[in-house]
Amino acid sequence: MNNLADVLIDWYERNGRDLPWRQTTDPYKIWISEIILQQTRVAQGYDYYCRFIGRFPDVASLAEAGEDEVMKYWQGLGYYSRARNLHEAARSIHAAGSFPHSYKEVLKLKGVGEYTAAAICSFAYGLPHAVVDGNVYRVLSRWMGVDTPIDTTEGKKEFAALADALLDRDRPGAYNQAIMDFGALVCTAAAPRCEDCPLKDSCVAYAGKRVADLPCKARKTKVTDRFFNYFFIHTGDACWLHKRGKGDIWQNLYEFPLLETSRSYELGELLSLPACRALWGDREVEKVSLVEAGRKHVLSHRRIYASCIEILLKDGHFVPEGFLKVRFSELEKFPVSNLISHFFSLILKPNHKNE
Ligand code: ADE
Repeated sequence: MNNLADVLIDWYERNGRDLPWRQTTDPYKIWISEIILQQTRVAQGYDYYCRFIGRFPDVASLAEAGEDEVMKYWQGLGYYSRARNLHEAARSIHAAGSFPHSYKEVLKLKGVGEYTAAAICSFAYGLPHAVVDGNVYRVLSRWMGVDTPIDTTEGKKEFAALADALLDRDRPGAYNQAIMDFGALVCTAAAPRCEDCPLKDSCVAYAGKRVADLPCKARKTKVTDRFFNYFFIHTGDACWLHKRGKGDIWQNLYEFPLLETSRSYELGELLSLPACRALWGDREVEKVSLVEAGRKHVLSHRRIYASCIEILLKDGHFVPEGFLKVRFSELEKFPVSNLISHFFSLILKPNHKNE
């Protein structure tokens, strides 16, 4: 057995994971699983997939659901544009009457790129399209000793051509599942299991002790710092929330009134800022307290340092335009980021005094 596909499929048949989206040829379910798994590990994605499919078992149920509910099912998974795109695409599939059947048509779905289209078409329809994801970059760059950076146009083209040339055209689905699982379980980014690897004897990187150096990237991900100050403005049993708009992280998720600053501010300094006072205007404040300061929240391209400040108002009627007044008992119904969910849990803790 010296062909890559044969080795991988043989390995997969003996070691591959038994996962729910592998026991179906329903393109809808495969699509959902692939979108969830795009930036999420199987260990985390598994429960989300089961819950999502439990609530939205087919295109119609997803298309007919409201956006807040869809986002709520996605809460905690991150990369929320995936859920918004999924919802939009479900509506267009529902309107068209059936799930698209060709690679070209699947690729047109909102949020579906070449990787996802290849996965759906090979798993659901047995079409000969090779997947290229992080797992595939690792396996191919190491096994073949290719050091072209994977984050360049040239690298992307080269690896796509290699993946296509190596695809088992009689068993594209099995081959694609196999190479992804192999990348996830053996040819891993950290601590690859080279000693147990069935490709050890033919692996160029292993022979040249370059496993840790491959795949190559041309650029480092740039991470920027941001400073968020959230105001838990409430009246003892209800607080203000608003829905985040377009053009930034967490679009369409809910949060407390937010003041972003260019650096971290002490509470006193923050309260003296006109933009901060403008939030509750000249309304009488009964209590100000710091719920938490400088909580670090790391995303792929950002480090957020977030504080949460409690402002207890005397007058319960006023709510500024663009904000909702939400009873504490209703807060859990709103889709929010993990960061806001954390602040909710602090605020809703029985020992947190809101009065
Ligand atoms: N990661 C992305 N797609 C996957 C799949 N179908 N099975 C396991 N891990 C994956």
